Amino acid sequence: MVTEPELIEYVLMQNKEVFTIGRQQRETFNGIEDQAVTANSGDRWKRLRNGLQPAFAWENIQRYGSQMAERTVNHVDRWEADDRIDVLHEMRLLTLRILGDTLLGIDIEGDEEIVRNAADAFLDQTDPRRFGRLLPKWVPTPTQRRINHAVEDLDAYIAGVIADRSPGDDVGSVLLEAHERGDLTMAEVRDNMTALLLAGHDTSAVALTYAWYELSRHPEIRESLAEETENVIRNGSLSGDDFDALERTRNVIKETLRLYPPTWGVNREAIETVTLGGYELPAGTQVMMPQWVVHRDDRFWEQPETFDPSRWKRESNRPEYAYFPFSGGPRHCIGMRFARLELVVSLATMVHHVDLDVSVTEPLTFAPKISLQPEADIGAIVHKS
Ligand code: HEM
Repeated sequence: MVTEPELIEYVLMQNKEVFTIGRQQRETFNGIEDQAVTANSGDRWKRLRNGLQPAFAWENIQRYGSQMAERTVNHVDRWEADDRIDVLHEMRLLTLRILGDTLLGIDIEGDEEIVRNAADAFLDQTDPRRFGRLLPKWVPTPTQRRINHAVEDLDAYIAGVIADRSPGDDVGSVLLEAHERGDLTMAEVRDNMTALLLAGHDTSAVALTYAWYELSRHPEIRESLAEETENVIRNGSLSGDDFDALERTRNVIKETLRLYPPTWGVNREAIETVTLGGYELPAGTQVMMPQWVVHRDDRFWEQPETFDPSRWKRESNRPEYAYFPFSGGPRHCIGMRFARLELVVSLATMVHHVDLDVSVTEPLTFAPKISLQPEADIGAIVHKS
């Protein structure tokens, strides 16, 4: 377990050749998206990452801002005043639809359950507290059988989507063009679509859920966000060009990702013997770098347990890797720019239209699955602005 920011930087950046993705990550994706960027290392990872990377450049991502806002308005418009909603469920539907509308160029509405079944089974499978996790994957535990079925359905859905789609300039098209050039196999196209669907919606959905939880506990912060959006919004809707102007919303998102990092730990494996912080790590050593711990370390954060977006306005000399919600180095989250834009634009848009009165009074408890899940449902009552 590495919790010194300098050493985290050393593992992820300076000595990246010696640390590859860890056993836990390889085993997690095994049988689900074996041919995806998430599950590979070495030359194959480089080829897959290089194929995807251009679609994630900021110029390409920023233009999705209007679609993100539009989809969010459409989503909250379906809620009636005084409705009681399950916040995480709603945020998952929203982020899935946004992902479909933008990066993947498909209308997911009506098919969300296919992705959610796979995502739910996958989440359960990654719960480190589950006894069955210690068993090999060929043992037909109920969770394993559930995941096998759900992944078969998801593969069939994605094959259908690939067959039906018309060419565009989204990441789905980028992958298919790479296939036509002979750079990617069809299995690689399919598994990378699966990876983007799974990695790309639940992380953002939990972040939005925790943001709403905190806004509900701090009405004055919620008010200040509503005021900000009111000043920034033109023609009734936000766009990617508004990202810089939404400073308060950006700080709320930053603070949410600090206190509730959707990915709570990054895993690497030393491929040769290496010295780290004065310790000799033999080849094969698993290294865990937990955002959960470092983001709450009082050496770097004043009152670390307090939700305080204004801390991001103050100068600080904390080390760069005291905060790494999207990891770092060449393998950092490829969807980072997309996620930041989506979280800011969607939250600002939601705050402009509704208030959610989150009815959780107990402190939150968490399930440390592949993403940081709330242990109990987070319900809320809708108030329309
Ligand atoms: C709040 C939202 C998100 C958070 C906190 C997050 C966090 C992370 C983290 C910590 C990693 C691990 C990097 C490593 O091993 O060093 C990662 C990888 C990845 N993320 Fe995200 N992510 C988010 C949203 C997204 C979105 C929206 C997408 C796609 C649209 C995405 C796609 C990926 C992919 C494909 C990888 C694997 C990259 C590789 O191995 O080269 N993520 N993410």
